[in-house]
Amino acid sequence: MSDQPPPAYAGPQRVFSGMQPTNGLHLGNYLGALVKFVALQERFADCIYCVVDLHAMTADHDPKTLADRSREVAAAYLAAGVDPKRSIIFVQSAVRAHAELAWVFNCVARMGWLERMTQFKDKAGKHSERMSVGLFDYPVLQAADILVYKATHVPVGEDQKQHLELARDIAQKFNNDFGAPSGAPAFFPLPDSLIEGPGARIMSLRDGSKKMSKSDPSDMSRINLTDDADAIANKIKRATTDPQPLPETKEGLAGRPEVENLVGIYASTTGASLEAVLADWGGKGFGAFKPALAEALVAKLAPLAAELRRLLADEAALDQILKDGAERAASIAEPVMADVRKIVGFWGA
Ligand code: TRP
Repeated sequence: MSDQPPPAYAGPQRVFSGMQPTNGLHLGNYLGALVKFVALQERFADCIYCVVDLHAMTADHDPKTLADRSREVAAAYLAAGVDPKRSIIFVQSAVRAHAELAWVFNCVARMGWLERMTQFKDKAGKHSERMSVGLFDYPVLQAADILVYKATHVPVGEDQKQHLELARDIAQKFNNDFGAPSGAPAFFPLPDSLIEGPGARIMSLRDGSKKMSKSDPSDMSRINLTDDADAIANKIKRATTDPQPLPETKEGLAGRPEVENLVGIYASTTGASLEAVLADWGGKGFGAFKPALAEALVAKLAPLAAELRRLLADEAALDQILKDGAERAASIAEPVMADVRKIVGFWGA
């Protein structure tokens, strides 16, 4: 009997994801995250999308602009098609339970687990002693974001896989350390990352080995969601490629990361598979492909940018959506926190 594994988590399926409110959303955020958030609404009845402003404090942040940055990311969720009636959209700091559960998890997670996090090592470089404790602790807060809703599925980019593993380790250790009565289902689920689709990794237009990023010094390396048609056409025209024509099969993309990136962008923008794009374009040159790619991007991004501007022009309406979202989020998180307080033995809980 005693070597029976404890019963697994038995709660409902729920999606949670978040994006930092940093300046300058780009095509990588759109294809890599927003498009997926929208699509998941069809597969899961219960999706929660958060603007993680507590995480944004781990890097240099400006108190004067943080709230506006949060509104911009929330507006991007909406403009991309996240439906605030079906899904919850809110700002992390408005739901206090994230910070509270993060503290409890700080006492569950081990130093050694965090010391292995490659994102911290990359961000801190040689200067880890000068970084904020918050930057080191970032993935613990991320685990709290997910688990305070007992979320089971988390759409993220490839680079967040390790943080998701950490969230699972924390959930597992919490479940073990504060064991439910024998036979009861696990308290926290072990959340799964959802990393899918041709747009899973959108790379720099100048260097196919680097992610498209707002921190790249060259604006030519990325398509911003606010770029106009001329800027988009110019950036695609000047995107790095090689002299060969497009390959006819996926195998032909091997060793050609810049080409793979452009084909992937075309596929995700038009909703076609990589195979279908290569069947159409294989053997043709970039002189023909690039204008078609630019046109597809403009067709997708121009309405998105217009919708973003419309949403940001009515701050009161946007804030009302976020307020409503925070209330709905808190109504899920509070009962979980109430149980956690009891489980860990807080006075009065
Ligand atoms: N770290 C994530 C990123 O940079 C953002 C994030 C914070 C997140 N909390 C989260 C993503 C919870 C998914 C779930 O992309």
